Amino acid sequence: MTLSTIAPSTTWYPLGALDAIPPRSAKVVHLHGTPVAVFRSSDDTLFALEDRCPHKQGPLSQGIVHDSGVTCPLHGWVIRLDTGSAVAPDVGCTPRYPVRLNHGVVELGYPPLPALAEADTLPKLDDFPARGTVTA
Ligand code: FES
Repeated sequence: MTLSTIAPSTTWYPLGALDAIPPRSAKVVHLHGTPVAVFRSSDDTLFALEDRCPHKQGPLSQGIVHDSGVTCPLHGWVIRLDTGSAVAPDVGCTPRYPVRLNHGVVELGYPPLPALAEADTLPKLDDFPARGTVTA
């Protein structure tokens, strides 16, 4: 996450010490009525995603956390922790929230981060005509 993706008006909410979230697990909090799962990876990187799988709203906080994602406990989709996107061939995205460690305290930010463009919505190279050709 780069600082430029965090809204300047972000409000930070302290959640407690990092140790309150064991590595490769998540803690759920409700932020403005939305369940948000704060994940801690094995290398202590923090991620925050809405606690709803993009498939059928499964609780991602109860999934298996691995290096770069979480496997949803309901049907096994893998959701990337850094983007909130489902790993292909599955398609979908769950909202991300800013999260940081500030002097040993985990802080969750609001509002959510801007949605990322999904790769499947971007045009493919084959969608463009070959250079030098004209189509009518
Ligand atoms: S609800 Fe998550 S994979 Fe189906």
